[in-house]
Amino acid sequence: MKNIVLYKSKYGNTLQYATWISEELNYELRDLKDFKKREIKNYQTIIFGSGVYMGKMNQIKKVLKWFDDQPIIIFACAGHLNVEKDIEDIKNQNFTKEQLAFHHFFYLPGGVDFSKLRGFMKSMVNFFIKLIEKKKDKTPDEMAILEGYKHPTNYVDILYIEELVNFVKARRQPSL
Ligand SMILES: Cc1cc2nc3c(=O)[nH]c(=O)nc-3n(C[C@H](O)[C@H](O)[C@H](O)COP(=O)(O)O)c2cc1C
Repeated sequence: MKNIVLYKSKYGNTLQYATWISEELNYELRDLKDFKKREIKNYQTIIFGSGVYMGKMNQIKKVLKWFDDQPIIIFACAGHLNVEKDIEDIKNQNFTKEQLAFHHFFYLPGGVDFSKLRGFMKSMVNFFIKLIEKKKDKTPDEMAILEGYKHPTNYVDILYIEELVNFVKARRQPSL
C-alpha cells in the first residue's frame, strides 16, 4: 500500500510543509485537485493539509466527506504562530467533536503576507483594510489585521513538522 500527502495551498505555506513532510516520511505528494476519490483505496496513510481563510480550512468540507469512515491526519496552516485560542477556533469552526476525535489534527504556523494577494482577494482585503483604517474604535482583532497588513509575517519552519512526523512514525511501529 502507498502513502500520500495531499495539500491545498494558495500562497505556498501549506505546500512547503506538505513537501517537507512527504520528504521526511518518503510519501507521495499531490495537490488535492489532482487526486480522485476512487484512488483512496490505494493508500494506507493519508495526510491532508490546507491554509485557513476567514476561519475556514481550504477544501476541508470535501475532505471530511470523503474520509467519513477512514481516519486521516489533518494539518491546518494559518496566520498565527501558535496561539492556543486561535488553534481552538480553527478546530471549532472546521470540525465537529466527533470528527476531531476520529481524525488526527495538527497546527503548523504559516504567516500572513497580504502583498502576495492577487485579483478578487486583493481588492476585497484592500476594501476591508480601508474600512478598518477609518474606524475610530478599533477592536484588538482589527488592530492585529492592520498590523499584519503593514508587517508581513512568515513563521514557516521545518521544525514544526516534527510532532506530526513523529506521530506518523510511531504508528508504524508494531505495538509492544
Ligand atoms: C484573505 C486572507 C484571509 C485569511 N484568513 C485567516 C484566518 O481567518 N485565520 C488565520 O489564522 N489566518 C488567516 N489567513 C492567513 C493564512 O491562513 C496563512 O497565510 C496560510 O499560511 C496560508 O496558507 P497557504 O499559503 O498554503 O494557502 C488569511 C490570509 C488571507 C490572505
